[in-house]
Amino acid sequence: MSLTVYAPASMGNVGVGFDLLGAALAPIDGILLGDRVSISSADSGINLSLAGRWAEKLPQDPQENIVYQCAEFFLEQLGKEEGLSLTLEKNLPVGSGLGSSASSVVAALYALNEYFDSPYNEQELLRLMGKFEGKISGSVHYDNVAPCYLGGMQLMLDTPERVCDAIPTFENWYWVVAYPGISLSTAKMRELLPSKYDKSVAIDFGRYLSAFVHASYRQDPTMAISVLKDVLAEPYRASAIPGYEESRAALAKIGMLTTGISGSGPTLFSVTDSLDTANKAQEWLEQNYLEQGGFSHICKIDAQGARSTEDI
Ligand code: HSE
Repeated sequence: MSLTVYAPASMGNVGVGFDLLGAALAPIDGILLGDRVSISSADSGINLSLAGRWAEKLPQDPQENIVYQCAEFFLEQLGKEEGLSLTLEKNLPVGSGLGSSASSVVAALYALNEYFDSPYNEQELLRLMGKFEGKISGSVHYDNVAPCYLGGMQLMLDTPERVCDAIPTFENWYWVVAYPGISLSTAKMRELLPSKYDKSVAIDFGRYLSAFVHASYRQDPTMAISVLKDVLAEPYRASAIPGYEESRAALAKIGMLTTGISGSGPTLFSVTDSLDTANKAQEWLEQNYLEQGGFSHICKIDAQGARSTEDI
C-alpha cells in the first residue's frame, strides 16, 4: 500500500485571534501551496527522502526531521517493527508565517494514521499534531495545525471534548498573501511580545475577536473588517518585518480592506472582495515587498484541509 497526503498552507492568528484563530489557504490559480508526504512499505527501518523547492533548508540528518520523528512515534506507539519509506515534498519555506512546520506535521501524521487504518480519531490526531508542531515552534498552539488538518477558518476552543471548531467564512473575500523571502523564527517572534498586557488591551482583544466571530456568523463583512485588528502581536512584531508597515499603508491606499501579519510573519495577508483590487495589491507587493525567494498568491480559504492526493 502507498499513499500521498497534501496539507495546505495556513495563516495563524488571522490578525484578530492570536493563537486562537487560523485559516487554510487555497490559491485561486489552483496550485497546491503546501507540503506533501508519501508513505509506502520498506524492508526495514524508516527511510526518509526529501524533495521540493524548499527541501535544502531542512536538516539533512533524517532523524532530525519532524516527519521521521512522526513515523518513529507511530511505530513505537503501535508496537510495529515494519519498515517505512517516506518522502517529504517541502513546498513551503521554513519560518515564513505560512504554517510550514504544521504542513509537514499534518501531512505526515495524517498519512501515517491512514496507512495504519486510523488508530487515532480526529481529536486525538489533532492533539498529536499540536504536540509535534510545538516541538518545532517552541510552544503548543493549534492555530496552524487545526486549519491545515481540517480546512476552513478554525476557532480554538481547547475544551476537553474539542480542540477547535470551524466558523463561517466570507465566500467572496480574497486573501492576498505575500512571503517576502526571509525567514523568521516563531520562537523569536514570540519573544518580542510582552508577558503582560494592560487591561484595556485585554478588553479590546476580547471585543475584536468575539465581534469578528459574531460578524462571521451574521455574514456581516463590514463589521468583520472593522474589528479585524491585532492588538496583541502586530504592535510588537511589525517593525521586525522589513517593509511591513509601508506595505500595510500602501495596500490601504490601493483599496485593500485590511492587512495583517500571517502567523508570526514575515508573510503578510491583505483582504479584499474585489479580484481587480487583489490583482493590483499583488502587483504592488511583487514590486515592493518581495525580495529574492519571495512569492505571493491570491487565495480563497481552503475548505478541505489535509487530503489524499496524487503520488509525488
Ligand atoms: N500564533 C502563533 C504566533 C502562530 O503568532 O506566534 C505562529 O505561526
